[in-house]
Amino acid sequence: MQVRFSHISLAFTPDKDTLHDLNFTINDGELVCLLGPSGGGKSTTLNLISGLLVPTKGKVLFDNQDVTKMGPSERKIGMVFQNYSLYPHLTVENNIAFPLKIAHWKKADRLARAAKLAKLVHVEDQLQKNVNELSGGQQQRVAIARALAKDPNILLLDEPLSNLDARLRMEMREEIRRIQQETKITTVFVTHDQSEAMHISDSVMVLHNAQIQQYSKPNELYDHPANQFVASFIGDNPLNTFDRSLLDDTELKEELGEVYDKATTVGVRAENIVLTKSEDTYQHGVRCKLLKSHRYGLISTRLYSFKGIELDATGLTEIHDINEEVEIYFQKRGFFLFDASGNNLFLE
Ligand SMILES: Nc1ncnc2c1ncn2[C@@H]1O[C@H](COP(=O)(O)OP(=O)(O)OP(=O)(O)O)[C@@H](O)[C@H]1O
Ligand SMILES: [Mg+2]
Repeated sequence: MQVRFSHISLAFTPDKDTLHDLNFTINDGELVCLLGPSGGGKSTTLNLISGLLVPTKGKVLFDNQDVTKMGPSERKIGMVFQNYSLYPHLTVENNIAFPLKIAHWKKADRLARAAKLAKLVHVEDQLQKNVNELSGGQQQRVAIARALAKDPNILLLDEPLSNLDARLRMEMREEIRRIQQETKITTVFVTHDQSEAMHISDSVMVLHNAQIQQYSKPNELYDHPANQFVASFIGDNPLNTFDRSLLDDTELKEELGEVYDKATTVGVRAENIVLTKSEDTYQHGVRCKLLKSHRYGLISTRLYSFKGIELDATGLTEIHDINEEVEIYFQKRGFFLFDASGNNLFLE
């Protein structure tokens, strides 16, 4: 099922749009993550797809059919939430089959369907257990199976893994991807964890300030962020940012060319600071002093001082002393210029 938003706005209060003029298409069979900080409108967007919320303006279309005024059951949606919301007094089997019971399926049919779905989500050996005897990950599997029971058009998941510990989260995100690929169901997954979104999605929609900041393939977000917000939000290390004017008296300014004058802010990823120039870097570096250095596991982090501001650098292996002055170089792929509105001026 293809999902399309056409000029969707939603205002909870008359004076402010929580979402403003959203336009996007989610293609049939895709897994799309809605990503963004708390309050960015992820759940609101999901609820507009489900039919739990009705937009103030615009249209929601499923395969070109206008479903704006339809409720969740008419839209044939399967939903999974953070807290699983399973029925604690029922077995795994009866939890999965519950929506089918409500829909008056015959007992044999619904148990057969529950068994099939239990197999899909790998809880087939737990069918007769009570759900509160299961681990968090297993409970989430049951919740997914239950959401799929009525063969929905779309599967919607709102932060389904946030109750799980880090290791289980990683395992379950792969599981969600596997289940989605096996069923080929159009899936929308809400998370505020950029790494989770980057790992499992066909496309990622970054929501912030009532708007879509960028909607593209995961690597595209990292390689070509549309603006400073996306560049800062995506990536495992912090994005260093500083005022463009700090480069005004450097040769790097000349090397950057005409676009330099339109920029107000420079962004450079911590992993793209190096100590030797190459064809991947700009040929002119800047002089810095090493303030401190520490290593945690595989990652070494250094803090350099450049004209009174601090720059984080990760992944450097060359050793030099604290307070020693060195020339650092910026790799082009992690170096950005932003204009006054925060838009990426795209150097290459
Ligand atoms: N029912 C409501 N009435 C009024 N305001 C609401 C309502 N639901 C959400 N909001 C507001 O809309 C904005 C977006 O909320 P939403 O729940 O979509 O954010 P989110 O991105 O899902 O955040 P989180 O990561 O914290 O779940 C927030 O400012 C929130 O306070
Ligand atoms: Mg939310």
